[in-house]
Amino acid sequence: MKTIAVLNGPNLNRLGKREPEVYGTRTLADLEAELRESFSGRVNLTFLQSNHEGVLVDRIGELADNGCHGLVVNPGAFTHTSVALRDALAGSGLPAVEVHLSNVHAREPFRQHSHTAPVCAGVITGLGFAGYAFAIEFLLKLES
Ligand code: DQA
Repeated sequence: MKTIAVLNGPNLNRLGKREPEVYGTRTLADLEAELRESFSGRVNLTFLQSNHEGVLVDRIGELADNGCHGLVVNPGAFTHTSVALRDALAGSGLPAVEVHLSNVHAREPFRQHSHTAPVCAGVITGLGFAGYAFAIEFLLKLES
């Protein structure tokens, strides 16, 4: 069975409380439970949320070295700022899908640029929790 990691960046621990008009009222625990239930028996899912860039960078390296098959990553604000995260994703050699809960293209100009998107297979933005599930489905379809 494949192992896929779902990585969430800064402030996504506050889903449900944080700007609910943008990000909804469901929590990160709800997301993880929903994904575990939907993909039960099909994939080994592993989750990490961190507010710290280096923690995410370290984890991506560990996953790459320990048999992970793909990454679903919502880098949060690091999307728009982090060359380190981009380099970690590129250097992992793992297929990755960038996910955003909100439609970043319908928001502020500073959200229009992603450092991480060019090193991902693709980006899903604006579909809420469903974006993570679609990303996992995509990664499961890949060879290897
Ligand atoms: C986000 C969009 C980012 O611009 C923002 O900084 C986030 C969340 C999203 O899921 O819509 O923290 O990645």
